Amino acid sequence: MDVLVVDHPLAQTRLTAMRRTETESGVFRASLHELTTMVVYEAARLFAVEKYSIETPVAQTEGTRLANPPLIVPVLRAGLGMADAALGLLPESSMGFVGLARDEETHEPRAYMESLPADLAGQPVLVLDPMLATGGSLLHCCKLLADRGCTDIIICCVLAAPEGVERLASSGLPLRLITASIDEGLNEKAYIVPGLGDAGDRQFGGM
Ligand code: URA
Repeated sequence: MDVLVVDHPLAQTRLTAMRRTETESGVFRASLHELTTMVVYEAARLFAVEKYSIETPVAQTEGTRLANPPLIVPVLRAGLGMADAALGLLPESSMGFVGLARDEETHEPRAYMESLPADLAGQPVLVLDPMLATGGSLLHCCKLLADRGCTDIIICCVLAAPEGVERLASSGLPLRLITASIDEGLNEKAYIVPGLGDAGDRQFGGM
């Protein structure tokens, strides 16, 4: 699995804001939005493009467009805060949704929503989830996509734990990962360390 860490100064300042305990949810959400723009920008570097004829006010020339815009799939609920930024960069894309909750006892994923096209053969999919922790949820999501024929899955996150990276890499699924950091590891509650806490709660409040 190809892994890219977006080690850009501006990405790291947004990530720092998200990590800090005192950052309130409005600033947290704005930082996630901006960081997602940077992560998706890097993810799009390998997208196929095609040329087509356009006219400027002065002359005819060749323009560029995405040959195969990806389906964007935020993983609910934390991935929701990345959706608007991704769609802003990729207005030609459409969006599907996967709802996964983490069982706090077993840390295993539990699906409560799958809103995806039946056939994803030939279409790249951009999966949005700020946190790659154990990899259980993301792996579950990626299997749903692979079951629909997807052979090009690009995971965009903000923080990853080495345990989750390893789990995805050894899955044999056709994955690429783009993240702003690979942190130290997981604690006994499967939170990323140093991490930023619960990405859903920090955006939307605890439930
Ligand atoms: N999900 C989160 O929101 N935070 C973590 O640290 C791990 C999983």
